[in-house]
Amino acid sequence: MTTKKSPTRSRTDTAPTGMSKGLTSYGDSGFSLFLRKAFIKGAGYTDRALDRPVIGITNTGSAYNPCHGNAPQLIEAVKRGVLMAGGLPMDFPTISIHESFAAPTSMFLRNLMSMDTEELLRAQPMDAVVLIGGCDKTVPAQLMGAASAGLPAIQLITGSMLTGSHRSERVGACTDCRRYWAKFRAEEIDEEEVADVNNQLVASVGTCSVMGTASTMACVAEALGMTVPGGASPPAVTADRIRIAEQTGFQAVEMAKNGLTIDKILTEKAFENAMRVLLSIAGSTNGIVHLTAIAGRMGLELDLKALDRMGRETPVLVDLKPSGQHYMEDFHHAGGMATLLRELKPLLHLDALTVTGRTLGEELEAQGPGFKQDVVRPFNNPIYPSGAIAVLEGNLAPEGSIIKASAANAKLMEHEGRAVVFENAADLAARIDSPDLDVTADDVLVLKNIGPKGAPGMPEAGYLPIPLKLAKAGVKDMVRISDGRMSGTAFGTIVLHVTPESAVGGPLAYVQNGDRIRLSVSQRKLDLLVSAEELARRAKANPVKVPTAGRGYRKLFLDTVTQADKGVDFDFLRAEKMTGTFPRSK
Ligand code: FES
Repeated sequence: MTTKKSPTRSRTDTAPTGMSKGLTSYGDSGFSLFLRKAFIKGAGYTDRALDRPVIGITNTGSAYNPCHGNAPQLIEAVKRGVLMAGGLPMDFPTISIHESFAAPTSMFLRNLMSMDTEELLRAQPMDAVVLIGGCDKTVPAQLMGAASAGLPAIQLITGSMLTGSHRSERVGACTDCRRYWAKFRAEEIDEEEVADVNNQLVASVGTCSVMGTASTMACVAEALGMTVPGGASPPAVTADRIRIAEQTGFQAVEMAKNGLTIDKILTEKAFENAMRVLLSIAGSTNGIVHLTAIAGRMGLELDLKALDRMGRETPVLVDLKPSGQHYMEDFHHAGGMATLLRELKPLLHLDALTVTGRTLGEELEAQGPGFKQDVVRPFNNPIYPSGAIAVLEGNLAPEGSIIKASAANAKLMEHEGRAVVFENAADLAARIDSPDLDVTADDVLVLKNIGPKGAPGMPEAGYLPIPLKLAKAGVKDMVRISDGRMSGTAFGTIVLHVTPESAVGGPLAYVQNGDRIRLSVSQRKLDLLVSAEELARRAKANPVKVPTAGRGYRKLFLDTVTQADKGVDFDFLRAEKMTGTFPRSK
């Protein structure tokens, strides 16, 4: 029998919680609650259910997003956990973005997803929220939105896909996608084989199986303290992943009861732990942009010089593709983040709080001792000693650029060469495979206009293909420079995020064919060997026209997007006041 209660009373009449939060404005709050309850009862809820703490669950399942293909199972398990802990689960849809199904690029939509997430967290009544994300841009967007909304929030990762097998070779997206495509371009494999491998690269639903951006952000989310312990690594289709989902639901209710809001977790120490982890896993360079954007929502600016210093004292310990040899499911079998954090202990802030209400150090202690495995190296026997990601400065990138040194060719990291310039992505596509292209393996490929405003959306086009005639001759790597990003699954001697970008008149805009460029990773320098006077002359002769748009989201994007060093967030979404910088070396 249903208990009858006043439909206009909340669990407490003092601080609105649950269904009484954020009432719709009708000028009469009693009526607003009365109406809300009347409508939700249309779905069969009782007052007893509606009196519980409300836990929102973002449903990012979408037919366009196979990386979130397990969302229905995850939501079911989260709901179970919420109900076990005495809460009321309420799932609701938000934007979902997949890398291969978003034009012009998923990054163009990340900030839109963060706004959608933030505003729905604010507009709908909930005491805490479970954020279900996985594909590259979804976790950053959700953490950005939740950071601004300020509620208790907990991240649930969808988990990585399984690996496949192609003619007995283990394969997984997307490092192997690129490798096989490069073989096809170089005519090392034929159409039949490239079609065969296409069936094997993505063996199940879930996120890319290497240390690309999705896996990087999963590890970063756990290092931030935003997932339950062990939340980063279970593959999407495993029982472990479902158990994590149930725990996440349970924990969300505890967070709601204890008022564990996101600002208590996303502290300066948490961001430093996350950056440390990003460097130790040789994570995706995109992770730096996303972490910068999330921190910007909390009032913290990225200090590029300090990031470089932190890189120099952080060894790469995780042996995953593209820098190493294993896949995400191997990392999980090796103990996942606990195995890594145990090794990194001396470099971490162990007193940083996590979603469990306990500190990172306490959670690590609770995981017990490690065991023998070969995916995470001991601290004193790293896979790469330090500087997985290096920050480069110089007259070509006055406000910085980065290179993933651990995925680069050691021979090319000290290199001077002749610039072969492409004005934009279309120019690159039109000429890169031309037999007439004037290019040698010692040249430096330069691509302009793929920065935040240039493309727009800073697409992952920084992984310029090796010109066809050189690829066929066996050239595997060249120095490549752009103001764009690169997929975390890619590899090569590739300088990215050149800031300021060419579309706003950064020096990159004025590089010409035949100019000499010098890259020195050891000295952290990227220089265009052209005088300041000559660059000023070129800028005057050919001034840059900054891109604009007449209407819609594109206009909002072009008018307000910031540069890479500010996380490519919209300027009006960052914290109103910046209160500090990160990382600060320990
Ligand atoms: Fe979704 Fe790689 S495409 S994680």
